[in-house]
Amino acid sequence: MLLAKLTVLIIVLPLLLCYGVGNVYSSTIHENREDLGSLLDFKQGISSDPNGALTNWTTSSHFCRWNGVNCTSTRPYRVRKLILTGLNLGGEISSSLGNLTSLNYLDLSNNSFLGHIPHLNKLQNLEYLYLGSNLLQSVIPNALTNCSNLVVLDLSGNNLNGVIPPRISFLTKLAYIHLDSNNLTGSIPAFLRNITNLQIASFSKNRLNGRIPDEVMQMPNLKELHLNQNNLSGQIPQALSNVSSLQGLSLTSNMLGSTVPSNIGDDLPNLTILYLASNNFEGHIPNSIGNPLRLEEIDLSINSFTGQIPTSLGNLSLLSYLNLERNMLQSTDNEGWEFFHALRNCSSLTSLSLSSNKLQGAIPDSIANLSTSLARLLMSGNSLSGIVPQSIGKFSSLVQLILDDNHLTGTIEEWVSDLTQLRYFSVAENQFTGVIPPNLGNLKSLLRLHLSYNNLQGGIPVEIGNLQLLMLNLSSNKLSGEIPGTLGNFENIQTIQMDQNILTGNVPSTFSNLHTLSMLNLSHNNLSGSLPSFLNDINSLTKLDLSYNNFEGDVPTNGVFDNATIISLDHNPGLCGGATDLHLPSCHLGDKRVGAVNYLVKILIPIFGFMSIQSFGEHFEKVTYNDLSVATRDFSESNLIGRGSHGLVYRGKLKESKMEVAVKVFDLEMRGAERSFLSECEALRSIQHRNLLPIITACSTVDNVGNVFKALVYELMPNGSLDTWLHHNREEEALKRLGLSQRISIAVNVADALDYLHHDCGRPTVHCDLKPNNILLDDDMNALLGDFGIARFYQDPQSTWAGSVSSIGVKGTIGYIPPEYGGGGHASTSGDVYSFGIVLLEIFTGKRPTDAMFIDGLDIIIFVENSFPDQIFHHVMDAHLVEECQNLTQENNVPEKEIYKSLVDLLQLALSCTRSLPSERPNMKQVASQMHAIKASQSGWKCK
Ligand SMILES: *[C@@H]1O[C@H](CO)[C@@H](O)[C@H](O)[C@H]1NC(C)=O
Ligand SMILES: *[C@@H]1O[C@H](CO)[C@@H](O)[C@H](O)[C@H]1NC(C)=O
Ligand SMILES: *[C@@H]1O[C@H](CO)[C@@H](O)[C@H](O)[C@H]1NC(C)=O
Ligand SMILES: *[C@@H]1O[C@H](CO)[C@@H](O)[C@H](O)[C@H]1NC(C)=O
Ligand SMILES: *[C@@H]1O[C@H](CO)[C@@H](O)[C@H](O)[C@H]1NC(C)=O
Repeated sequence: MLLAKLTVLIIVLPLLLCYGVGNVYSSTIHENREDLGSLLDFKQGISSDPNGALTNWTTSSHFCRWNGVNCTSTRPYRVRKLILTGLNLGGEISSSLGNLTSLNYLDLSNNSFLGHIPHLNKLQNLEYLYLGSNLLQSVIPNALTNCSNLVVLDLSGNNLNGVIPPRISFLTKLAYIHLDSNNLTGSIPAFLRNITNLQIASFSKNRLNGRIPDEVMQMPNLKELHLNQNNLSGQIPQALSNVSSLQGLSLTSNMLGSTVPSNIGDDLPNLTILYLASNNFEGHIPNSIGNPLRLEEIDLSINSFTGQIPTSLGNLSLLSYLNLERNMLQSTDNEGWEFFHALRNCSSLTSLSLSSNKLQGAIPDSIANLSTSLARLLMSGNSLSGIVPQSIGKFSSLVQLILDDNHLTGTIEEWVSDLTQLRYFSVAENQFTGVIPPNLGNLKSLLRLHLSYNNLQGGIPVEIGNLQLLMLNLSSNKLSGEIPGTLGNFENIQTIQMDQNILTGNVPSTFSNLHTLSMLNLSHNNLSGSLPSFLNDINSLTKLDLSYNNFEGDVPTNGVFDNATIISLDHNPGLCGGATDLHLPSCHLGDKRVGAVNYLVKILIPIFGFMSIQSFGEHFEKVTYNDLSVATRDFSESNLIGRGSHGLVYRGKLKESKMEVAVKVFDLEMRGAERSFLSECEALRSIQHRNLLPIITACSTVDNVGNVFKALVYELMPNGSLDTWLHHNREEEALKRLGLSQRISIAVNVADALDYLHHDCGRPTVHCDLKPNNILLDDDMNALLGDFGIARFYQDPQSTWAGSVSSIGVKGTIGYIPPEYGGGGHASTSGDVYSFGIVLLEIFTGKRPTDAMFIDGLDIIIFVENSFPDQIFHHVMDAHLVEECQNLTQENNVPEKEIYKSLVDLLQLALSCTRSLPSERPNMKQVASQMHAIKASQSGWKCK
């Protein structure tokens, strides 16, 4: 042993002397041996050093000259500092560092060190320990608390778990402790109080729970307390006067609640930063908030604060950031707006958000007195009305101006053009009139422009093309004229939405230059001409909606046009061909329009002169082919409203009865259409229920060359299918949004219809193709089940159909078909129950069973099961419902528990319907009765 050490000395000594460490090394090498070994051990533990940070850690030079090493200035030279930060070092930190007993400063932060925090308990000289931003795991060792001289302890940004060690309170010299961004659990130790020197305590972004101990608010030197993003609950300790040194307090994103101590501003006179966002605070914002005169940043957003905004905020001359958004703060009268006048004294204000509160009335003219350094002004989602004061134009530093979702009127042209620094401008969902001012084109910094859902008129100014926009949303206005070619100049644009206007002409060919475009929505305009096939060159497109226009001609079968998930071309009567998924008429006979007409003529001609309504009783209206032809304007393409499983559906108005009808013409060239017609006639002949789509009549004829025409006439359902209400584009969102009660009531209607079919209509009938497309909505949003094209009679020996069921198998629609049908099972009522379960899941999650997210064994059932019941709000429910439920709780005082229970009941019912074994599913009668019970339980709620 001794011999070995001597050998090392003998080898090392000459090397060091040769490389001229000179005087430094001429002392006895003996004292440094330990440190040298420790450093070499440490180097050994490092498995990756991509930057070569340790390449000069060789015995050819004295370790005091190694990179990152600094030694004591007097003999014996010992390692005093080791600073290796941000060098991408990987591997474990060797415990040999625990032998560097002179170490005062250790900084290994910002690397990729793994494993445990080493034992450093012998390091009595260590004052600064930085191990933050690594990949360290396991617990914080208690032994660390032996380093009794620690002043700074920074372990933030690792994967540490377990609790904050109780003995940390022995580190009485500690001034800064950073444990944030780990995975620490347990509560905040009250005995932190013993660390009287503590100035900054940061425990944010962990999983700490429990209350904030009163003792923590009694630390005499505490300047900053960061507890944000934990699971803390309870209240802020009421007595804060013993922590009057506090300058920064961040409690954002916890579950803290009830009220904020009313004297917070008196007790904490040195506050500069106060973050209480995303908690459960309620009641008034304390007036004392205006007392800490150095207060610069206040964030109280996402709470339930009520009442008026205190005018005392006007005392805060240093206030630069004030965020009160997403509360229930009110200003209904002049007094309520006083705070706004008071803010004129906050001459440093740069960011003000009052969005999503209950502010009413006009934006006060006193806005002109706000600080000219204002860069962000957010007032969306209130009930602001009247015109925007023209003086808003003076805020030449404004970068973000968000006023959407109010009732503002007047024009934007009077004030917008002076806001030359604007990057983000949104006034969507208001009642602005006038034109889009051409001088918007002078706002050279503008990146996002949202003017949708207003009453803007006139053309889109060519000058807009001068901008470098990322997003342009002009949807739902009254914009007319052609789309300017200059819009093809947007080099970085990602989305363009100009749908629901009255734009004419074609898409400018310059759009082929929009190489970054991801979404283009031009639907619901009067655009015409041939399809802009040059859009095919834009590889970044993920959504192209050209529906509801007058484009005509061939649809290309390549690029975006070949992908039905990207493109939407519905309701362009002149289009034909294209990918089969688009279901457009083919262009096969010469000219496309002629082709399309022929397609119809082929089916319809045989009907002339002969009409039979055999199977239907007297109470069915008798209509002739001529009636239908007149009603649907010669089966014109503009009256085409959809495609059933086996044919085309036209809208029309019967002349005599003035009844609005949907005429389903069976395309008898489609496989199974004939059978489908018979099946549907047979099904509908004998059954009637308020939740089954009423059939007015049926007609069937054979022409002299043997061609057959068959059509069914139904009452027209003005609100279309459930599918379009559940899955609409973002633009339709506001118009077509189903509330919770509506969804429940639709589900009840469907359950009733199926219950009737299965149990009460004489002979059990299986629908076989239940899906939101087949659920239609009348004027009052009652749901009616339609499309009996593949309905089956269940085990009915009398029926000729019973026999054929097994031979042809059951089709249904992917996503809704029960598993047993896939295995060749026969149609059964429990198959419908399964489909009902899926539809129920779809109604409440807003996700189709065929959603792209359902891959690799994940399906909609497992998706819901995985989060059921505790996490359904966060992971499963349609976001709109979650929002509505929150509103219900907040505004209508429906207890959250009650809403939650209803939703759990609904999803539980849905999950029981979708069990894979048919025998484990409830029958439709049980389902319907449970649905009624759920509906009854929420009928007391006041909601839409
Ligand atoms: C080792 O590298 C560091 C950083 O490049 C440098 O400052 C130091 O002088 C080097 N030491 C020797 C002995 O070359
Ligand atoms: C390294 O140590 C010497 C003497 O011990 C000291 O003068 C110098 O400032 C230190 N360098 C760093 C970067 O700490
Ligand atoms: C630390 O030093 C002690 C005593 O000098 C020695 O026994 C031990 O092996 C060293 N530990 C490491 C990890 O180098
Ligand atoms: C805190 O300090 C008090 C008084 O000095 C002492 O009695 C107590 O043991 C200390 N507690 C901890 C956990 O350090
Ligand atoms: C935190 O710990 C929990 C279990 O205690 C674990 O599931 C989770 O993955 C951890 N998170 C991180 C970021 O390491």
